[in-house]
Amino acid sequence: MSELRDSAPLLDAYLSYFQSPRTPFTIPGHKQKASRLDSGLGAVVDGDTPLYGGLDEIKLTNQTLKKAEKLAAEFWGADFARFSTGGSTHANQAIVLALGAPGDKVAVSRTAHRSILSALVLAGLEPVWMSPEIDTSTGVPTGIGIKELEKALAEKPIAVLLTEPGYLGTLSDLSVLISAAHKVSVPVIFDAAWGGHFGFHSDLPQHALQLGADALITSVHKALPGYSASALLLAQGKFLNLDRIEQSFETTHTTSPAGAPLASIDGVRALLQTRGEELINNLLHNVENFKKVVQSEFALPIFLYPNDFPDGRFDASKIVLRVQQLGAPGVEIERDLQAAGIRVEMADNDTIVFLATLADMPADFEKLADALIPILKRRQSQRRESSTALSWSVVPQRGISMRDAYFAKTEMVPADKASGRISADLIAPYPPGVAVVAPGEILTEQILVGLAASKAAGVRIAYATDASLATYRVVIN
Ligand SMILES: Cc1ncc(COP(=O)(O)O)c(C=O)c1O
Repeated sequence: MSELRDSAPLLDAYLSYFQSPRTPFTIPGHKQKASRLDSGLGAVVDGDTPLYGGLDEIKLTNQTLKKAEKLAAEFWGADFARFSTGGSTHANQAIVLALGAPGDKVAVSRTAHRSILSALVLAGLEPVWMSPEIDTSTGVPTGIGIKELEKALAEKPIAVLLTEPGYLGTLSDLSVLISAAHKVSVPVIFDAAWGGHFGFHSDLPQHALQLGADALITSVHKALPGYSASALLLAQGKFLNLDRIEQSFETTHTTSPAGAPLASIDGVRALLQTRGEELINNLLHNVENFKKVVQSEFALPIFLYPNDFPDGRFDASKIVLRVQQLGAPGVEIERDLQAAGIRVEMADNDTIVFLATLADMPADFEKLADALIPILKRRQSQRRESSTALSWSVVPQRGISMRDAYFAKTEMVPADKASGRISADLIAPYPPGVAVVAPGEILTEQILVGLAASKAAGVRIAYATDASLATYRVVIN
């Protein structure tokens, strides 16, 4: 019996669909009867029902999605809410397409996810990059400073795009950034893919709209217990054109949205609304306890905490293990954990990120601690410095626009022939996940030598066509 059902119209519609007799002569073609054809195929598709002709009539006569989106808009305090089945990737593309016209500038955090970059290419917008400040003791980006934003605002962007929280859970001083942008009537848009749980507990950061931002994009399947690729786009109408957002959302969304992700967004909203504070409280308590248990076995600090960062700007539910403090190899620890049946969200040489959510119970944390402690003890040696220096020492040199680089003819060239060429790839070492080069920018000697050194130090090099860095994808001159 679902306790959320009465306050979640899409969730109720999903459950009702499977409780009523039906003989569909509509899509989806599996008709929830594919198990007649093969039990494996049936296991995958027979629980699927779409929005059209599933959660609502084919002609959307009940307006169930609209009702659920209105409830979400009210809950997050937004003028506008849409549910996406295409992840924050789709929601980012939709909002960026709604901002301006090709050639317009937007101020963009250099920590932006690749979906923001692809959105800029689609929209033909020109990024004015903002580099994050990086905490030298941990190597973690702490966010965009006000001076960096002011420098970008001087170039007259039509919007500011921030990625908050960062992948490792840190945040910029957001109220200050939002006020500075609003002073010149520039909207601020947050890719908060990892911050869906913010705003509903006093020990977590407020969410972007509570802080006065103009749009908030979040994945409901990341920090929240939603279906894979479910996401929310929330926006305010003061500085943004909501009709345009609606139009670009529809332009880029599937015309056959699956019901389960939509119903899950509605269910998660209802869960947060009815039990959010209690569940987040349990999560924070469990995470803190887990960190304490593991930390007690080691002398050097191995986890990140809010008080490691200015004004405590860090997601307290985040478990970021700094294995370089133990001189231990992150990727091998990941392998050991996998052998013990435990998957981690991200591991590179220096850092392991464990995603903990409302769905984790004390027994799950105990299991993780029991597996992790002996592995760390076995793998520890001499403490290493974290190897992130390259990401904050590079000053980008624009060759051509990102959009021109995207559509250009490209070739792979050996690393020793790449210097001075225009990169067709975004290349970002993790951590800190800051792009060292973006499409259209010049591959300098400093970048090539630095990337090779990072790679040799075991840093994960994300998004390069050739992750070995033996060759680079460049624009043909
Ligand atoms: C900051 C950020 N934005 C957007 C995305 C894309 O989210 P999704 O996987 O929901 O499409 C990610 C994915 O990891 C991300 O880290």
